[in-house]
Amino acid sequence: MIANELRRLYIDFFAKQHNHKEIKGSSLIPENDPTVLFTTAGMHPLVPFLIGEPHPSGKRIVDVQKCVRTDDIDEVGDDVHLTFFEMLGNWSLGDYFKEEAIKMSYEFLTKSNEDGGLGLAVKKLAVSCFIGDDDAPRDIESAKIWKSFGIPDERIAFLPKKDNWWGPAGKTGPCGPDTEMFYWTGDEEAPEKFDPKTKGWVEIWNDVFMQYNRKDDGTFEPLKQRNVDTGMGFERVFSILNGVKSPFETDLFTDVINEIRLLAGYANPNPEQEKAEHIIADHLRAATFIIGDPCGAVPSNIDQGYIVRRLIRRAVRHARRLGIELEFTRKIAGIIIKNYSDFYTELADNQEKIFEEMSKEEAQFSKTLNKGLAVLHKNISSISDNFCFELFATYGFPPEMTIEELEALGLIRNASQKKSIMEQFEICFKKHQELSRAGAEKKFAGGLADHSVEVTKLHTATHLLHQALRNVLGNHVEQKGSNITNERLRFDFSHPEKMTDEQKIKVEKIVNDQIKAALPVSFEEMTVAEAKKKGAIGLFESKYGDKVKVYAIGDSSKDTVFSMEICGGPHVKNTSELKNFKILKEEACSSGIRRIKAVVGK
Ligand code: ALA
Repeated sequence: MIANELRRLYIDFFAKQHNHKEIKGSSLIPENDPTVLFTTAGMHPLVPFLIGEPHPSGKRIVDVQKCVRTDDIDEVGDDVHLTFFEMLGNWSLGDYFKEEAIKMSYEFLTKSNEDGGLGLAVKKLAVSCFIGDDDAPRDIESAKIWKSFGIPDERIAFLPKKDNWWGPAGKTGPCGPDTEMFYWTGDEEAPEKFDPKTKGWVEIWNDVFMQYNRKDDGTFEPLKQRNVDTGMGFERVFSILNGVKSPFETDLFTDVINEIRLLAGYANPNPEQEKAEHIIADHLRAATFIIGDPCGAVPSNIDQGYIVRRLIRRAVRHARRLGIELEFTRKIAGIIIKNYSDFYTELADNQEKIFEEMSKEEAQFSKTLNKGLAVLHKNISSISDNFCFELFATYGFPPEMTIEELEALGLIRNASQKKSIMEQFEICFKKHQELSRAGAEKKFAGGLADHSVEVTKLHTATHLLHQALRNVLGNHVEQKGSNITNERLRFDFSHPEKMTDEQKIKVEKIVNDQIKAALPVSFEEMTVAEAKKKGAIGLFESKYGDKVKVYAIGDSSKDTVFSMEICGGPHVKNTSELKNFKILKEEACSSGIRRIKAVVGK
């Protein structure tokens, strides 16, 4: 089976046999949600509709959603963890519930290909259901429905919240128990009794029954609208249908892996080489999709840009290990674009941009790598506690790569050593950047990086610029993109025409006036609704009714608030730190979008 056939089979089953409306998957980068960097599940773009807003396509929806998850980046390289993946999903927005959802899942899994299903063997299926706790009862209903389709008791596991509950962990918003479907991929016969921990069982699909709202005080109340949110792991199912153990053995990756082998000059990899191949293929695929997205991000030191940077750099580093020295990222990206462009036309549309950004990052990082590795190897005998940080601060050498290198050299042998090095790095980092511990942890968990003084200043300048543009050009000005390096800010915004010189001078003056006024910068946490009510601007859309940070520039007690914007930070404490502001360039970015590059303190 080829990839497009599986996508089609899924969509057709729900659209043609069960009256769902096919919708196009959303951007990989949440357009209006500053609380997350990437779309991490199919339900993410649909949150407003899960909490009651009517969807223009109705109550039954099916789609294929591209997702990126960066939390388990270190596990990439094994058989199941991928940074980029596709999720097949069918939704009931206040329409069908458990009975029908499970029936459709069962039928899609087991019906033959001719009848529009996957044709999987029932004897290799198992499911899990929610075990029940103080918040919600044991999900005997789902188990009963599975049993009615012939799934025996031994193949139904009851598991607690951490396994069989979906929704915002510890946060407010829609959530509920789920039932997960597993397929046996072991060579021997599937064990009669299902234990999800047994190697060989692979989770392939998840039906979430969103029937609760988690409130601020941690209690649960029934939702007005009961929804079904499902997610089928495309790559996992595709591997199963092709009779292979890992997505890296499918058409999604084989051309890429063959090219890596060709470049590295071997035919039969050892396990180490195989792992490196997987990391390179996974990371460059994710980077290709992130750069090639309609709202795409390019390598930089903040937000999504930092993740792309990290992905490309880690791929380059592993390629070096395999002996690939030449410019190779664009070659790999070319293959990925070719393989995926039928379904994801944006990749072909953005091909040149993808090539250019990959090559640029590869070249830049090669320099860093050469310097950093040389220093690392030279000083290997006298590694100080601050080594990781020194390499980072002086050569921009990423801490996780220093750690990987030390591991490869046998200088780190266990997890606790690794943890203590990372902790030491964070201590140094905190000292130098005056970051809170929470901030530092978030940085490494979420990937936000380089909150150096320059970047922080430019970040605050971006808020001033955004508001000044609205004052001068009008409230149609909305942020469409932002990218900050140590040198300059870049801000994309909606505006139909070129700015006149007069307008630019006005905007500059307004920003400089705020700098001269030495306005304090502070933030408050509030819900999205409160932020909207207060008139905050910025990219936002509620995620599970989350609290967001709203940065204010100015003093509300003195009525000098100039800007209020939803943002994760960080920012300077006072606008006077920016010294002055200058627009370097104003140009077209794409249709209806202008781009400004500007600097501070020059
Ligand atoms: N939202 C559910 C998941 O991501 C379906 O597993």
